[in-house]
Amino acid sequence: MFRTMERDPESRVFGFRAVDPQEKTTLVRHVFDSVASKYDLMNDLMSGGVHRLWKDAFVAEVDPRPGQTIADVAGGTGDIAFRMIRRTGGGARVHMVDLNEQMLRVGRDRAFDRGILEGVDYTVGNAEDLPLADRSVDLYTIAFGLRNVTRIDRALAEARRVLRPGGRFLCLEFGKVRLPALKAAYDAYSFSVLPRLGALVARDAESYRYLAESIRTFPDQPTLARRMEAAGLARARWINLSGGIAAIHTGWRL
Ligand SMILES: C[S@@+](CC[C@H](N)C(=O)[O-])C[C@H]1O[C@@H](n2cnc3c(N)ncnc32)[C@H](O)[C@@H]1O
Repeated sequence: MFRTMERDPESRVFGFRAVDPQEKTTLVRHVFDSVASKYDLMNDLMSGGVHRLWKDAFVAEVDPRPGQTIADVAGGTGDIAFRMIRRTGGGARVHMVDLNEQMLRVGRDRAFDRGILEGVDYTVGNAEDLPLADRSVDLYTIAFGLRNVTRIDRALAEARRVLRPGGRFLCLEFGKVRLPALKAAYDAYSFSVLPRLGALVARDAESYRYLAESIRTFPDQPTLARRMEAAGLARARWINLSGGIAAIHTGWRL
């Protein structure tokens, strides 16, 4: 049972390395400082474009409506926020919050390139201590962000705090693959191809090694669902994508 487990066990590991929780946030910030300018290109190269399909599926599940207020936490370079703006015809208000200023800066440039001049704001902030009022958003989204947060349970509690009663939490994250053949191929790819691709394109093998390791240390789908429930995000469910390589987690603030 999760109740008997310690809270935030991930706060003391950075990839496979043991660290102090304070140090972890700094290390994560360094990773995204380092990869920001190549982040979008690397996503396409690493996933063969599949991350776009996962993000499309995620935003279809979010199903944002005009007039809604949305927190897109760990919003990065805007892939989720811009999809939500497009889907609502610009009628939603999206607050992007990210630990890393560089990622948001790339995001803002991309928004201008796409003609998205309104409806999104960009704030440097931590998922563990959101710069948003209690009960102020209809939807909370976090895509490939929760894995990087130092204290996951604290971030889940923050999500509940900022959601209005009846509001929905949605998280897109890497999951755990069960099928043995797929798992073997995926492990080989993650630990040998990813760091090499990172070295070649982003001149940073370490950050891409961290990516592969952080996926392995992130809780599996049932464990995350239990932790969501423990944080007050009710009716926690998940939908596996690509055999569980990624998963959409959903829950409600009732
Ligand atoms: C893999 S990127 C995902 C970006 C975007 N959501 C996407 O799907 O493309 C992870 C993002 O999480 C941000 N991040 C990491 N820890 C965070 C925290 N504690 N609070 C807010 N953002 C955080 C990073 O700066 C980075 O921009």
